[in-house]
Amino acid sequence: MEDPGGSCEVTSGSRDESSSPRVTPPLAIKMIKSRGKILGVLALFLVMVWYSISREDRYIQLFYFPLQENKTTCPVGEVEKKAAQLIANYTRDRPLFLQLKDYFWVRTPSLYELPYGTKGSEDILLRLLSVTSYAMPESIQSLKCRRCAVVGNGHRLRNSSMGETINTYDVVIRLNNAPVHGYEQDVGSKTTMRLFYPESAHFNPRRENDPDTLLVLVPFKPMDFQWLEAILNDKKRVRKGFWKQPPLIWDANPEQVRILNPYYMEVTAAKLLNLPMKQPRKVKQKPTTGLLAITLALHFCDLVHIAGFGYPDSADKKQTIHYYEQITLKSMATSEHNVSHEALAIKRMLELGLVRNLTYF
Ligand SMILES: *[C@@H]1O[C@H](CO)[C@@H](O)[C@H](O)[C@H]1NC(C)=O
Ligand SMILES: *[C@@H]1O[C@H](CO)[C@@H](O)[C@H](O)[C@H]1NC(C)=O
Ligand SMILES: *[C@@H]1O[C@H](CO)[C@@H](O)[C@H](O)[C@H]1NC(C)=O
Ligand SMILES: *[C@@H]1O[C@H](CO)[C@@H](O)[C@H](O)[C@H]1NC(C)=O
Ligand SMILES: *[C@@H]1O[C@H](CO)[C@@H](O)[C@H](O)[C@H]1NC(C)=O
Repeated sequence: MEDPGGSCEVTSGSRDESSSPRVTPPLAIKMIKSRGKILGVLALFLVMVWYSISREDRYIQLFYFPLQENKTTCPVGEVEKKAAQLIANYTRDRPLFLQLKDYFWVRTPSLYELPYGTKGSEDILLRLLSVTSYAMPESIQSLKCRRCAVVGNGHRLRNSSMGETINTYDVVIRLNNAPVHGYEQDVGSKTTMRLFYPESAHFNPRRENDPDTLLVLVPFKPMDFQWLEAILNDKKRVRKGFWKQPPLIWDANPEQVRILNPYYMEVTAAKLLNLPMKQPRKVKQKPTTGLLAITLALHFCDLVHIAGFGYPDSADKKQTIHYYEQITLKSMATSEHNVSHEALAIKRMLELGLVRNLTYF
């Protein structure tokens, strides 16, 4: 009787043999029939298992290599090596987020006040960290290779069609109130972490983030902790002390909120921008959230690609600077950022091959 299914392939092989040169099935049978060869296959298998255990990414290359080349190649140790050339005393040992244990029994002293340290903010942090979480989710922590995309808010993303590419990264870091809703084609939709401060918080955090996006507060000043405490504990909102009205109602899940360790702000300012930690009141200069996000990625990721970074030429007064709003460089004039100074820092990283740009920089 003819078996229409593919399961009959081996027995029907002998019938096909005369008409077509299909030799694989009979060969396989002969091989399996021979005991010595079984042992041989077994030995080969064991060698492969050993090989794969000894080097996880080799295993991936061996078996999945042709499927998606980029997804599988992890430049193990490359970011560490190159970052150490650029950042003195580079270490990946510092926690990304502030932790309750550092403010509970024993207070870890901090050299600096905000934004470079937590000196003077210990009490409010003790209260805040007992209601927010500080763990990195297991799904991110356990990644074999942390391929990160840091998505800036720059105008270069407009019409870039980078959305699909951005979504393929394991970790997508976004900044401030940059929307994804309606811009998916150019900026993607996935958001693993979003760095923000009260004045840059999106009024509708649920719409512009994933349900599990980490909402990472970047504390610039003590008021920023007060804002978060008022929001999370529904206390009376403080209105004074912000340079722009932050949301009074902010509908985010406290489980998703984290507070960035100011260590990364210190590294960005001191090591990447060579800013003095103690500046006279008049010439205060601070890193942007964007450069800070790149610094963070350099301490956490195995691969760092950036998109949407860079500002228009300073002579170009009409060019808008963000992909989602109509503001120009003029609006940056009064900010405490030096964008040309930051551009030089990013250029150095690109030249070193420490990061790669997905859009023109
Ligand atoms: C993907 O791999 C190709 C070939 O190795 C390379 O040219 C390309 O730049 C890679 N793209 C990314 C996003 O890594
Ligand atoms: C690096 O660490 C050493 C030892 O803690 C310290 O003396 C030195 O000042 C640090 N250098 C920089 C540039 O931070
Ligand atoms: C983006 O594409 C649209 C439609 O093709 C076009 O009208 C618009 O001028 C483009 N914007 C930029 C900034 O290139
Ligand atoms: C900004 O940075 C550029 C490049 O490093 C520098 O020439 C300029 O003096 C800086 N501007 C201010 C106001 O510090
Ligand atoms: C990265 O930026 C350089 C200019 O600095 C540009 O020539 C290059 O095309 C950019 N790469 C991508 C993928 O856009």
